[in-house]
Amino acid sequence: MSSSQPSSRLGILLPGLGAVGSTLIAGVLAARNGLGSPIGSLSQLGRVDPGDGHPRPIRELVDLASLDDIVFSGWDPITPNALEAARTSGVLGAEHLDALSGELEGIIPMDAVFDQTWVSRLDGVRVKSTGGHWASAEALIDDIARFRAEHDLERVVMVWCGSTEAFSEPCEIHDTVAAFEAALRADDPRVAPSQIYAYAALQSDVPVANGSPNLMLDLPCMVELAESRGVPIAGRDFKTGQTLMKTILAPGLRARMLGIRGWYSTNILGNRDGYVLDDPANFRTKELSKLGVLESILEPDEHPDLYGELDHVVRINYYPPRGDDKEGWDNIDIFGWLGYPMQIKVDFLCRDSILAAPIALDLALFLDLAHRNGSAGVQDWLGFYLKAPQTADGSEPDHDLFHQLTALETQLLQWRAG
Ligand SMILES: NC(=O)c1ccc[n+]([C@@H]2O[C@H](COP(=O)([O-])OP(=O)(O)OC[C@H]3O[C@@H](n4cnc5c(N)ncnc54)[C@H](O)[C@@H]3O)[C@@H](O)[C@H]2O)c1
Repeated sequence: MSSSQPSSRLGILLPGLGAVGSTLIAGVLAARNGLGSPIGSLSQLGRVDPGDGHPRPIRELVDLASLDDIVFSGWDPITPNALEAARTSGVLGAEHLDALSGELEGIIPMDAVFDQTWVSRLDGVRVKSTGGHWASAEALIDDIARFRAEHDLERVVMVWCGSTEAFSEPCEIHDTVAAFEAALRADDPRVAPSQIYAYAALQSDVPVANGSPNLMLDLPCMVELAESRGVPIAGRDFKTGQTLMKTILAPGLRARMLGIRGWYSTNILGNRDGYVLDDPANFRTKELSKLGVLESILEPDEHPDLYGELDHVVRINYYPPRGDDKEGWDNIDIFGWLGYPMQIKVDFLCRDSILAAPIALDLALFLDLAHRNGSAGVQDWLGFYLKAPQTADGSEPDHDLFHQLTALETQLLQWRAG
């Protein structure tokens, strides 16, 4: 049984109002105004069988916030408003943006906590000048409180839609909340901006999802803080495009006991995300998040003859003419009966943000549902949406899309509305 009804409005805060953020906001406004359908969103279009052989819409089974009740805001060091962000990213056309221009123009991001050492390709201009990490965290906490008060919001969630930061690894400053707070006070250069947002959100009892590969939530200090404050979290990296295809195809090949010798994935991409990822330090963060999926699905230790020698390579190339219309090629070298080789070629001409926006929406609505049902800490069941899902017990995540869907549906049925 769901413990509380979503009677009031839900605030969604987006650090990062670029291609994904603006496509999410414009898409929700478009759906609200009858200008389009929220395709790709399970929360809006999915159905689940509650056990009686009659699948029902998820929206009827659990108490989700309605699209009409969402209020957006966020932070960005460059974007002046959501309309400009949508026009610059070039994802949606005039047929959607013109009708929504007034509303989109009114969504003006707050000044960001930004540090160019973490995203060298961007030159932030709308940046807080607080003079230190601790003051930055306090400024974000104030922003969240002001947003709540201005819109009279009982419930707020945060979805990181900001840039991919330079690669970094967990260290002793992330071991505990106390150690992280000491690092904030000491202005430790190992604290990334996304971690300051996560800290501020959790201290404000705001659930957080991380749509980027950043080291933001998968840290002992953030898990400790989320658990102690009773707040759900889910990271990391939206599972769109090529990784989505990989986690659809690989379980099928494994189910038929077909061998895989190599999987070469390459992309061309021309949006701002692609530009940021053109820096090797930022690409490294993305690469690690993308590489993990095959091993968990194929379990080479159990089937060394089929998957023991698999070469998995991932490349992303920045190519401006394409904008947000990414092209992802996969060459998969497989083998079958008596070891005879075969090849599969996938050429996915996708629109990155069109695939990411419904994920961001579902994560926000489902985290809000989890919060209302008293579920704190890492939400394993949201791994369906993520390239590198965080797990509550630190175990290897299950990347099989179909296992992930079952886990999500099972969890939703436990919170079935009466
Ligand atoms: N587009 C996709 O399909 C997709 C898929 C998976 C993951 N992602 C991840 O989602 C994130 C957003 O992708 P995008 O395509 O919208 O990129 P984008 O470059 O269009 O937008 C990112 C925005 O974040 C802002 N930003 C950077 N640092 C910030 C900070 N410290 N605080 C607030 N804002 C900050 C930038 O100014 C920019 O406007 C990236 O990390 C990307 O890797 C995107």
